[in-house]
Amino acid sequence: MARVLVVGSGLGGLIAAVRATDAGHRVTLVTKAALSDSNTRYAQGGIAAALFPDDSTDAHILDTLRAGAGLCDPAAVTVLCEEGPARVRDLIRFGVDFDRDESGITRGLEAAHSRSRVLHAGGDATGFAIETALVATVQERADRAHAHGGDQITIHDHTMLVDLVVDDGRVTGATLLGPDGARHTVAADAVILATGGAGALYKHTTNPAIATGDGVAAAWRAGATIADVEFYQFHPTALAVPGTPLVSEAVRGEGAVLLSSTGERFMPAIHPDAELAPRDIVARSIAAQMKAQGGAPVLLDATGLGRELLESRFPTITAACRAAGLDWAIEPIPVAPAAHYWMGGVATDGWGRTSLPGLFAVGEVARTGAHGANRLASNSLLEAAVFADRAVRALDHSTGRHPLFNADTTDSTVAGDGTHSDAAGDSLVDRATLQNLLWEAAGVHRSGTGLTAAAATLADWQAADRANATVNELETGNLLDLGRLIVAAALAREESRGAHHRADFPGSRPELARPRFSRRPESLWRTLVPASSSASEAIAC
Ligand code: SIN
Repeated sequence: MARVLVVGSGLGGLIAAVRATDAGHRVTLVTKAALSDSNTRYAQGGIAAALFPDDSTDAHILDTLRAGAGLCDPAAVTVLCEEGPARVRDLIRFGVDFDRDESGITRGLEAAHSRSRVLHAGGDATGFAIETALVATVQERADRAHAHGGDQITIHDHTMLVDLVVDDGRVTGATLLGPDGARHTVAADAVILATGGAGALYKHTTNPAIATGDGVAAAWRAGATIADVEFYQFHPTALAVPGTPLVSEAVRGEGAVLLSSTGERFMPAIHPDAELAPRDIVARSIAAQMKAQGGAPVLLDATGLGRELLESRFPTITAACRAAGLDWAIEPIPVAPAAHYWMGGVATDGWGRTSLPGLFAVGEVARTGAHGANRLASNSLLEAAVFADRAVRALDHSTGRHPLFNADTTDSTVAGDGTHSDAAGDSLVDRATLQNLLWEAAGVHRSGTGLTAAAATLADWQAADRANATVNELETGNLLDLGRLIVAAALAREESRGAHHRADFPGSRPELARPRFSRRPESLWRTLVPASSSASEAIAC
């Protein structure tokens, strides 16, 4: 039996907590906000899996590899697509009620899928349905343990990860900031990061404000290898109103089309799949169209789908439109790209193991290699489910290092000397200014000049002292670390590939079709007990 600390309560964290409890481990689940707050909750389109008779694992693998623009790890993609159907069946067993009609489970089509294979629930409330079912499952396990006087699983909400504890190169726990404002250290045999992405890096994002990349930043500081951080996916269609709510790709899958501000379709001239071209292509085309029309959002015309379908299949988007005073059954709605999903993150092997013994990463915090340079729509929930399950299965043999992480493949040219993330400038970073900078310099379109200027600006900023920082200050400090890493990696990748597009290197370069790994120098992290933890209390794990 191991003491397992799970950080984060989206799909990856909840599956890891349930599986680890069932496997007899003692689990502590901590999450920064309420248990049910996570990025998973906002997922609309659904979860892709080759579950239908006209589909195949091979077809799903091929679509995923194609979308990934030459940067996927084929082994990770194979695991994802082969084990995906079983993990979707697990979700059904955990109580997720996927939408059905008289012929069985219904499915949608999304961009770059050669088949309809996207399961959804509550129309476009798939993430909400999954989160609700899994929270109930975890809570039920915790209540049952508590009722029997056991501590197989304990939940601490409103508890933030401050930093990982590293002892002689092994992660042995974490420092947490609790709702009482006190710091606590938790000792653990294994820490499973499931903290999600970092949409809050950008001025426009479909993510909730809690998506501040805390796990990637903490893993980086602790010396874990990270990879592919330059690849941030921009969803083509966020509703262009404050809060930029997502307008699912499934809407285009049902037949909605994109129009310029003067009412002309522009995608058919750009790609044979028009509105269902790969996500990066549609996002860039919309951004270019917006530039050509003076910055105004483009329009998504879903009026042809009819009010009944729009309201039953897309109740969440219908409500978002209504809240913004729009009726999408009778008029096209304004949409624009927004930061959506991070393909890069903490590098893991096929079992969720990071380069640091004792540390695992699952879901968006991880870079498994399954998404390459551009994730295929609705593969993210699937990846979290598949690799969270595998990480728990790997808990018992977690000490070994995967060959992926030997020194020869670690690219020390990308922030590898630590100077980018470890720089400390003179002025205190301001989150809104940082978000504007990242949006302008490291957004849908990038250039060497813009990135170089952004790197210099970022080097001038410093974060609040972590030892005494508030939750908000800790998050902003994490965003500063990650902003530096993304800008440095985007500068180093002198080509365009998938979601990473450089105006000064507009083509892909075959010799660069490989991931980039980096980590801080070992002298900075081999033994890392955060300064704050000496004054903290220990809580049981
Ligand atoms: C969407 O519904 O368009 C988002 C699905 C995804 O990001 O995979």
